[in-house]
Amino acid sequence: MENKNAFGMIGLGTMGSNLLQNIADHGFSCAGYDNSRDKVDALNNLGSENIHGFSDLKEFTDSLKSPKVVMMLVPAGEIVDSVINELLAVLDKGDIIIDGGNSHYIDTERRSKELEDKGLHFVGMGVSGGEEGARRGPSMMPGGDEEAYETLKPILEKIAAQVNGEPTVAFMGNRSAGHFVKMVHNGIEYAIMQLISESYEIMKKGLQMNNEEIHAVYRKWNDGRLKSYLLEITTEIFAYRNENEDGLLLDEIRDQAKAKGTGKWTSQAAMDLHLPTPVIDISVSMRDLSSLKDLRVEASKIYDDNSGMVYQKSIEEYIQKLEDAFYFAMVSAYAQGMHLLYQANENFKYDLNLDTIAKIWRGGCIIRSEFLEDIYAAFNKNSKLEHLLLDENVAKEISSTQSGIRAVVSDAALHGISIPAFSSALAYFDNFRNENMPTNLIQAQRDYFGSHTYELKAKEGVFHTKWVMENIKE
Ligand code: 6PG
Repeated sequence: MENKNAFGMIGLGTMGSNLLQNIADHGFSCAGYDNSRDKVDALNNLGSENIHGFSDLKEFTDSLKSPKVVMMLVPAGEIVDSVINELLAVLDKGDIIIDGGNSHYIDTERRSKELEDKGLHFVGMGVSGGEEGARRGPSMMPGGDEEAYETLKPILEKIAAQVNGEPTVAFMGNRSAGHFVKMVHNGIEYAIMQLISESYEIMKKGLQMNNEEIHAVYRKWNDGRLKSYLLEITTEIFAYRNENEDGLLLDEIRDQAKAKGTGKWTSQAAMDLHLPTPVIDISVSMRDLSSLKDLRVEASKIYDDNSGMVYQKSIEEYIQKLEDAFYFAMVSAYAQGMHLLYQANENFKYDLNLDTIAKIWRGGCIIRSEFLEDIYAAFNKNSKLEHLLLDENVAKEISSTQSGIRAVVSDAALHGISIPAFSSALAYFDNFRNENMPTNLIQAQRDYFGSHTYELKAKEGVFHTKWVMENIKE
């Protein structure tokens, strides 16, 4: 082949094929490889002169110009390792491998080291935006080898979504930084999806609103400060009917949510770093609880459903409180995710820039939203900001929505409506702003039964007490 391809893709599922078409649209000649002949044929049948499909790995890599750039979009896990092994036989030192899947950051950490030792450049890159994003402009979070990123940059910046004329891609940081950032993106994604589903529960059960009314609320919210991709698609879901059917498709869908694992990984990483992300954690747990359908059905026969109208007067007035509550909890979800990134950066020496992350999340990705402009502004103003809730502007906004979330959480609790992500956002906040938590008692208890010691307010050092009865005055 005379003119060699600038980019190679392994894995021609919808994401891989769409991303290649996006690259080709921007004038880059590219190659695709898959071990399914049908997928290769489908790619070639697109008829684009810039796209070339291969079912032989050697022919595929031989078609690439040096340094060869090969991106994998294959399911996370062992498949990534086996594809890398195959590639080692056909790539040369100095070539670049990109893992664009949702790989676990610990795997990426290991692969970075292994490939560096072999003289290959490795880029672990989170890609967000789903199939449509891949085709029209995703948000991309590359990390690892910065020298390799410089080679990829001209292509990635062209195919990314653009916000205010700037691409939604940037180098994230060292080693597994890109996949860590994408994992946290997904943790926030789980939290916001859970919050939306809880707002649906309040409107449906607590305010007894019908689908049309709920649709109107989401549409209105998405026109204001809550504007976001997830609310936009929710609005569309509330308008989607099967052909020749009256009801919404939504009402026919089982209430059991699946998960591929990135949310769980976020909570696990947060726990390992001793960094609280309760809104994300509860969102993972609620998907798991939703799967326990049989148990839930059994329990529903024992315990009466006492849920009912949370508010009898003006629904409109209550919807405003709910909007405030949603805003408050959504801010908390983003704040917890950003805090986790802050801590991971400290521990793992990733060299992350939180403002850059917020900047590239403003477009293309699943958690893109109006509020990301505020997050970007906060970290851009103060690159050392440890927690989003300490930003002056965010604090002002959050303060004005407090009464809304207090009303909604307490009303829901009184009326048997489960909104754990809203409640945990509020509980987190009330302790985050609590100068004196009741954890002195936990320290005393630990020392009592296990001699684990405690520290004193007025004196340096660690102390232990024999908490025997004679020293305790009733
Ligand atoms: C994205 C999405 C994408 C994927 C989720 C789904 O950013 O484009 O996050 O990566 O759709 O991983 O995750 P679950 O199957 O765990 O809900």
